[in-house]
Amino acid sequence: MRLAPSILAADFARLGVQVAEAGKAGADRIHSDVMDGHFVPNLSMGAPIVASLRPVTQLPLETHLMISNPDLFLQEFADSGSDSFLVHWEGNVNLHRTVQAIRALGKRAGVAINPATPAAVLEEILPDVDQVLVMTVDPGFGHQHFLHSTLAKISRIRRMIDRVKPECDLEVDGGIDSETARLCVEAGANVLVAGSSVFGTNESVPEAMNRLRAGAEGIYANRNDRTGKNGRQHGATPHRGRPRVRGV
Ligand code: DX5
Ligand code: ZN
Repeated sequence: MRLAPSILAADFARLGVQVAEAGKAGADRIHSDVMDGHFVPNLSMGAPIVASLRPVTQLPLETHLMISNPDLFLQEFADSGSDSFLVHWEGNVNLHRTVQAIRALGKRAGVAINPATPAAVLEEILPDVDQVLVMTVDPGFGHQHFLHSTLAKISRIRRMIDRVKPECDLEVDGGIDSETARLCVEAGANVLVAGSSVFGTNESVPEAMNRLRAGAEGIYANRNDRTGKNGRQHGATPHRGRPRVRGV
């Protein structure tokens, strides 16, 4: 299980210090939320923030683009130090092209889907991506309430990933705290994005991250015990090649 603290909830006057604290406390990657006031009704940050983080952490910098024209900004973020991109299925009529553009930059590619978007839209793009991001709130703001209706979808996507591309990350984003983290991991997530519950509590960043990890890590270990390391059910026969169908 991996933790990706979202800097949207950080104190921007102390951003470098807070990211370093998260790194020391065992963060696996740093999640930056980019919003354009058009794709979502909020503004946040651009590539200069990623560039300012690059020298202060060795952690992978993950960039979540909640913007209308992601293709226009990939190069700038890549030059600034982004290691991976999460782009939305919604509103992108050429998603495959966007994913290929990310790969051509040598970066990890992920597709994000909003709460009202069904899992089925991922079926064709899944072989081409390294990460799937399930939004567990409507994107645009930090500190929103987790939408429990997304849990069944997380389970469906876990099954899809285990079948098609087991090494693909299944990440959740929005309203993740120690309680919802457990639910998401039980449903099949292996990467947790968290803003408010890491940077917006009365605890220190390490204390907050320990609290998040505490419950969820046990569930993650149990889940893998139940399903085997690669997520398949014990005893299930791995699918190889095309199924043979009589008469076809
Ligand atoms: C929401 C962003 C999230 C946000 C999560 O649009 O994509 O990454 O920072 O914030 P919390 O953890 O506060 O819900
Ligand atoms: Zn995000």
